[in-house]
Amino acid sequence: MNIENRRIAVIGGTGNLGLALAARWAAAGMQVAIGSRSVKNAEAAAEPIGAGFGQNRDVAHTADIIVVTVPAKAQLDTLNEIADVVRGKLVVDTTVPLVPPRVARVQLPAEGSAAMRAQATMHDDVELISAFHNVAAQKLAKPGDVGCDVLVFGDKPEMRDIGIALAEKAGMRGIHGGPLANSAAAEAMTSVLIHINRVYGVAEGAGIRISGDLQQPSAG
Ligand SMILES: NC(=O)c1ccc[n+]([C@@H]2O[C@H](COP(=O)([O-])OP(=O)(O)OC[C@H]3O[C@@H](n4cnc5c(N)ncnc54)[C@H](OP(=O)(O)O)[C@@H]3O)[C@@H](O)[C@H]2O)c1
Repeated sequence: MNIENRRIAVIGGTGNLGLALAARWAAAGMQVAIGSRSVKNAEAAAEPIGAGFGQNRDVAHTADIIVVTVPAKAQLDTLNEIADVVRGKLVVDTTVPLVPPRVARVQLPAEGSAAMRAQATMHDDVELISAFHNVAAQKLAKPGDVGCDVLVFGDKPEMRDIGIALAEKAGMRGIHGGPLANSAAAEAMTSVLIHINRVYGVAEGAGIRISGDLQQPSAG
């Protein structure tokens, strides 16, 4: 999948995950813009990595692919803020529905997952996928091999292909995880990984890697 010419907006791109992803995409030559509630903060984050910047809604408006990287408590307000400017576009939701302080305990929302909650919030003409739930931002922020796979969820394989290409541009292997409903599994896994980090002292954050000899994906 060629995504070279797609413009990416990272909503909440001043934060841990969003900035680390944006830096890797910018380094790979992608057109990336950092979004924030504050233009000043967006500019400060974007300048060192050579990205564009602006308020969340403005960067979403001018992008082809919108990657949402905000805390779970801010997910719905943020999606509502950009809802009308992302119609007909691809939105990549990264939200893990952690409920502080018990973030090492799986606590999925009533909708089944953050991704299903996002789908219920967005207009029907938005293409929605979810991904990057199991990637530790602190590992991603350092140069070199991230050492984990990225599961990508969405109801259309061709949209998941774009998520897989985004993972590859960030230096990881992307893998089809199936329909958006399956996102619950990866979102839940993040709490398991946080538990593992605590018990085993994994400073940079544990990730997942799919074993087996994966062949060229078939439709489905
Ligand atoms: N961190 C990780 O390792 C990691 C890994 C996988 C998935 N995730 C998921 O990715 C998402 C982002 O995680 P993160 O650690 O990058 O989050 P974060 O750094 O705490 O926040 C990201 C950005 O969201 C914006 N934000 C914060 N609170 C907000 C609020 N109340 N309303 C609106 N915007 C708000 C802020 O941007 P502005 O102030 O500039 O607007 C902030 O820089 C989360 O859903 C998380 O579960 C994180």
